[in-house]
Amino acid sequence: MKKFLLTVLTLVFAMSLYSFVAAEKKAWDVPAKYKAMKIQKKGDAESIKLGKTLYTKYCKSCHGVGKGDGPKAASMTVKMMDQTTAEFKALPDGSKYYMSFVGRDEMPNFEKKVVDEEERWAIINYMNSL
Ligand code: HEC
Repeated sequence: MKKFLLTVLTLVFAMSLYSFVAAEKKAWDVPAKYKAMKIQKKGDAESIKLGKTLYTKYCKSCHGVGKGDGPKAASMTVKMMDQTTAEFKALPDGSKYYMSFVGRDEMPNFEKKVVDEEERWAIINYMNSL
């Protein structure tokens, strides 16, 4: 009986520790060289249109229309940000570039899939327009 109780207690402790760690979303460590990057064609309608096409093709399956609720979102262990919020918009565009194309963990690297600089900035322009 004592052993059983000890096992239960250990399990409860481990589970609460896990949920605490999982809830603590770690901040992105964006290198200065990326942070300083400046957006091309800010708010340009044509760029936003191109960005929408690309985002729909590569990003929507996880990110939805920016809200982080695409069909694959449920299978991710890390929650995505809501990209339609002021909190996301306030991030430096260079940081968004790093997060979008270099990525980390469950956020895939897109450097080989979206090679063109104009296309990359089009995606950022689109996210900023959401
Ligand atoms: C396989 C699912 C998946 C795909 C596809 C995907 N992402 Fe993500 N993305 C994630 C996850 C999960 C995170 C949160 C990762 C973290 O915080 O460690 C994330 C984070 C981000 C972030 C940081 C802010 C946020 O929303 O949390 C940006 C910006 C981003 N993704 C942009 C993109 C862009 C642009 C594309 C398409 C070119 C894309 N993602 C495609 C899963 C995906």
